[in-house]
Amino acid sequence: MAERFYITTPIYYVNARPHLGHAYTTIVADVACRFHAMKEEETFFLTGTDEHGDKVVQAAQKENKSPRVYVDEISRLFQDLWPRLNIGYDQFIRTTDPAHMSVVERVLQEIYDAGDIYFSEYEGLYCFGCERFYTERELVDGRCPDHEVEPETIKEANYFFKMSRYQDWLVEHIQKNPDFIRPERYRNEVLSFLKEPLEDLCISRPKSRLKWGITLPFDDQYVTYVWFDALLNYVSALRYPDGERYRRFWPAAQHIVAKDILKPHGIYWPIMLKAAKIPLYRHLNVHGYWNVQQSKMSKSLGNVVEPLELAKVYGLDAFRFFLLREMVFGLDSSFSESALVARINADLANDLGNLFSRVVAMARKYFDGRVPEADQDVGGEFDLGIAEAAAETVDRYEAAMEGFEFHKALIAVWAFINRLNKYVDVTAPWELAKKETSRKHLEVVIYNLLEGLRIIAGLIWPVMPDTAATMQKHLGLETETPSFTLRRLRSWRQLPPGTKIPKGVSLFPRVDAKKSASDDSGAAAPGDDAAAFKPQIGIDDLAKVDLRVATVLRAEAIPRAKKLLKLEIDLGEIRTVVAGIADAYAPEDLVGKQVVVVANLAPAKLMGVLSNGMILAAAEDSGPRLVTIDRAVKPGTTVR
Ligand code: ME8
Ligand code: MG
Repeated sequence: MAERFYITTPIYYVNARPHLGHAYTTIVADVACRFHAMKEEETFFLTGTDEHGDKVVQAAQKENKSPRVYVDEISRLFQDLWPRLNIGYDQFIRTTDPAHMSVVERVLQEIYDAGDIYFSEYEGLYCFGCERFYTERELVDGRCPDHEVEPETIKEANYFFKMSRYQDWLVEHIQKNPDFIRPERYRNEVLSFLKEPLEDLCISRPKSRLKWGITLPFDDQYVTYVWFDALLNYVSALRYPDGERYRRFWPAAQHIVAKDILKPHGIYWPIMLKAAKIPLYRHLNVHGYWNVQQSKMSKSLGNVVEPLELAKVYGLDAFRFFLLREMVFGLDSSFSESALVARINADLANDLGNLFSRVVAMARKYFDGRVPEADQDVGGEFDLGIAEAAAETVDRYEAAMEGFEFHKALIAVWAFINRLNKYVDVTAPWELAKKETSRKHLEVVIYNLLEGLRIIAGLIWPVMPDTAATMQKHLGLETETPSFTLRRLRSWRQLPPGTKIPKGVSLFPRVDAKKSASDDSGAAAPGDDAAAFKPQIGIDDLAKVDLRVATVLRAEAIPRAKKLLKLEIDLGEIRTVVAGIADAYAPEDLVGKQVVVVANLAPAKLMGVLSNGMILAAAEDSGPRLVTIDRAVKPGTTVR
């Protein structure tokens, strides 16, 4: 029977648009899932959105929308983003799905019937902004740390889940299963938390305060606390308790979360499972935070990075590679575009890209674009242990991937890439090609290099699926998953001699470091293009920029200024502007075109010509591309 692998991400709150933090967790799940597919396991990958609770209601109110409309909108953003990042989830769950809601009701009723939920009046310090009780210890100078208001003492009757009953059992389970929570630092954190007596969990909210939630099956005056609802998604998605998927995949469950939600996943969830008599998950895999300039990237801090923008600017595979290679799973990592650029240039363009293009070029040049007939008998003496190194690489890679140590797996692959680069330098195929007597040796060297690239293509597939497919195409292999199975990557000499090697491509163009030099300093330098994201602005800032459509009436070169053109434009009035577009546009091509102009830019003198406005263009490496209007409009029309 095939092994199985069930992987989940947190279900994200729909109070914010997806950012790099969410993308990281979800890409990690995708990578882990692809790796287990390479091991020929049956896999199931679940992600989704968490749509109940107070946070979501507040976010909807802010936009003057009903919760129902609002959650549909934001959930859609997540659902649409993942495929664009090459994330192939099997199911997207929403906690507003009726099927999920009925599982929550069912489990609540079971736990209630078993006597683990009780009703009690509770008096405590309550912050209405946070919709939660605070203990004295959590307050800062007697105030809520978030809203900076003094909490009110309120007396409220609620339902409580008897977590305290299960404390000793949980400690024992974690101690007996050292990798139940991993990496170890988080296991220790949970154990140390469990040294203090565990309080029972308040699992209801009176409807007088919150209506957007799942009504308690045993009291219709209350809705379910959002965490009790959300955690159950991991089994409701599989159609607990009778679903075929539940039967097949639940025993193989692994969760991925960041450390912010360690406590619900490491404490509440196992206890909920135990109380509901559901077997526990296998592993909780916990990662650290992506920080931007020392603080956690989060919506509330307003320092979020848009994953799709980065993928567009730098390439999706390069972006995925950076995330997996840069972060040590479990520790915090800081995000900067300059670190991303450095990795692209060193690891991708230089190490991998160069190896690939050199080897493909040599195979084409010396063997007419075919995999050579390397004679195995001469192999041993010339291959300098390449086959053994490949086998060791696959072993190290497998162990690291299995343990969620993605950076280690990639380090192993890159050690092999560099080994092959050295092999090229040492054997110097261009010298071997000069004499007929070294022809056999040349065949072996090129064959080994091509085989090495085949294995590298397979090993990078979970992280960089598109690049892997391109490499495979150039090795004459099919681009289907089966050729990436670990089993095939473990055996040497899989490339059939005579296979055609198509003309090479550049896998990763180098990125100009200047392109993104601004991100570390925090302020954008003039001339920066889209690569460097600028700090967020509000609508008021945007309103200061007066953008207008203008028709070009006349255009001419400016003597001694190779890049500049002087344009006469009509934007309701006639003006002169200078534009740095002479590289890409001849003056005669511009007349009659409609362009977009920053109309209220303070005038500036360029090469002796006074420019009154600025024309917008995309800052492409190969030259500017004008922003135009796709249907003619009246000159002077506002752009917003
Ligand atoms: O907590 N660095 O949802 P959420 C790394 N709905 N990962 C980050 C991150 C960062 N700066 N910011 C966010 C919730 N994440 C609940 C979960 S599960 C039953 C319910 C990722 O929208 C990371 O995976 O606040 C983190 O755990 C998750 O987003 C929190 O997402
Ligand atoms: Mg959060």
